[in-house]
Amino acid sequence: MIRPIIKYNDPLLREVSKPIKADSKALRTLIDDMIETMYDANGIGLSAIQIGVPSRIFVMQIPEQHEQPYVMINPCIKTFSRDLFTYKEGCLSIPGVLFEVIRPRSIVLEYQDSDFIYCTKQAQELEAICIQHEIDHLDGKLFLDRVTGRSHLKKLAALLVENGYEETAIKKRL
Ligand code: CO
Repeated sequence: MIRPIIKYNDPLLREVSKPIKADSKALRTLIDDMIETMYDANGIGLSAIQIGVPSRIFVMQIPEQHEQPYVMINPCIKTFSRDLFTYKEGCLSIPGVLFEVIRPRSIVLEYQDSDFIYCTKQAQELEAICIQHEIDHLDGKLFLDRVTGRSHLKKLAALLVENGYEETAIKKRL
């Protein structure tokens, strides 16, 4: 079932999501709904909190890189590269807004798959960016929070207004 995606300024997006236990009820339905919702919105990643469920899980599928969607439960990044990578990020919760964010170029993470099997994965560039972006959601953070520098923040605030969003949070950081 496609579920509504909550949007920027919904306080739920600022909640820190809770770890998921292996006996968690209705997890299969949640996973199916998250994948369906991500496909419907043409996204490459979606966290549970974006459909209002504060649990530490996200799905990801990058076209031309992944044949199947990844399901990552209780993910934790163990290593960040010093080398950085700039990517113009977007978010299904902030439609219309794309902005350059600088993050570590590669990461090593641990997570549990949909069968709660522990997995380790190395990721780089777009895949690493997507994972960092989604894990930020689980911690109540948005990619906008990663933008720094007065001139960038000013541009970002203007872009948010252009797209019909309130930008009081950004203004506070100026
Ligand atoms: Co997002």
